[in-house]
Amino acid sequence: MTKQDTIYMVTMSAPTNIAVIKYWGKASVEYNTPLNSSLSVTLDQSELRAVTTVAVSKQFTKNRFWLNGIEDDNIRQNKRFLACLEGIQALAQDHYDEENNLVYSKEEWKQLHVHVSSYNTFPTAAGLASSAAGYAALVAALCELYHAVETFPGQFSTIARQGSGSACRSMYGGIVAWRKGSPEQHWQDSKAEQVLEDWPQLRALLLVVSDRKKDTSSTTGMQTSVETSLLLKHRAECIVPERMQAMEEACSKHDFATFAQITMQESNQFHATCLDTYPPIFYMNDISRDIIRIVTAYNAWAGECRAAYTFDAGPNAVIYCLDTHVTHLAALFGHYFPVSSTTSLDIASVLPLEETLLQACNATGRIPREGDVQTMYVTKPGPGPQPVTDVCNLDPHTGLNCYHPMSKK
Ligand code: DP6
Repeated sequence: MTKQDTIYMVTMSAPTNIAVIKYWGKASVEYNTPLNSSLSVTLDQSELRAVTTVAVSKQFTKNRFWLNGIEDDNIRQNKRFLACLEGIQALAQDHYDEENNLVYSKEEWKQLHVHVSSYNTFPTAAGLASSAAGYAALVAALCELYHAVETFPGQFSTIARQGSGSACRSMYGGIVAWRKGSPEQHWQDSKAEQVLEDWPQLRALLLVVSDRKKDTSSTTGMQTSVETSLLLKHRAECIVPERMQAMEEACSKHDFATFAQITMQESNQFHATCLDTYPPIFYMNDISRDIIRIVTAYNAWAGECRAAYTFDAGPNAVIYCLDTHVTHLAALFGHYFPVSSTTSLDIASVLPLEETLLQACNATGRIPREGDVQTMYVTKPGPGPQPVTDVCNLDPHTGLNCYHPMSKK
């Protein structure tokens, strides 16, 4: 095969992450940097991940992109995509083959057009951090393809950040902070950093209330909040810095009660900020609020904080808890929000629930109703982007998309 024909390709998968200290509001739209630092848990990729194949070849005549099997022609003008592509190209290294012949020089990489095909194993843009996983997978795959090397730790995350802010946190596993950075450093310090590699006992239940695309995108919503919400400004300046510190300490001590309390207060304040936005933004719905009431009743019944809810830019809930209580909680949610599909843990119908607990939860007014929650995922913290060797979304001979949603792996 000549260099003319050869298609070089790489496939990587990347995780979602769910913030416990929320990013909402940009300090710089141009650099996509946040008003405040944030902290999240990177989730295991066995259920929820983005899988992205990137390829370059002299055969390709333009950049092309497929998302979930459908080509997106707007990609060539998409600033976020181009920022990621050009950001990684700038860090590309010369590439030699096994016989030590130069295959592509740093400069040559940039001349080649790229084909990208990506899919998510979960609903796109429904407030389940699909853009975080998607941009992290794109950046991770481009890094591999171009043999890119960071000039300072966290630099790849600064590039993922320009795709989608929360994507920078998906570049690492475990518990991850996104430091807000500063204009004095040209925002090069607005980057992600792993604060804890793992918290082995931590678990997350994801309750998918709706897999519809959200009405107000995070980008648009936070822009309106920055323009109109005084609460957002106060929160970013006066509340988040202390909460970040308290949260990092709680994580390092595996202090779940503190972690849980701050997680819920953060979720509440983020949604209060949305309500304080003019005109207001509503991401939670009646089912989300029922979930909050059940968690509150459960913690009161237990006499301690055993479960913590958090909601992002959509009605879906993530409930953090410890492994000792995950089965009990899954059974509780299975009772009040019966779902047809529970992944990872098939317990909901097996475990008996205490009469006193049912009384406490019934008092919230919630009546069990099937269909309010579509799917329940039971998951835990996991690692950052991973190489994928058994799946490829682009045909190795033509470089064209070969992923079709029905062939989901
Ligand atoms: C509510 O990262 O999607 O999930 O930077 O504009 O792409 P852009 O926004 P995005 O916002 C995520 C907001 C959030 C909170 C969080 O993940 O911290």
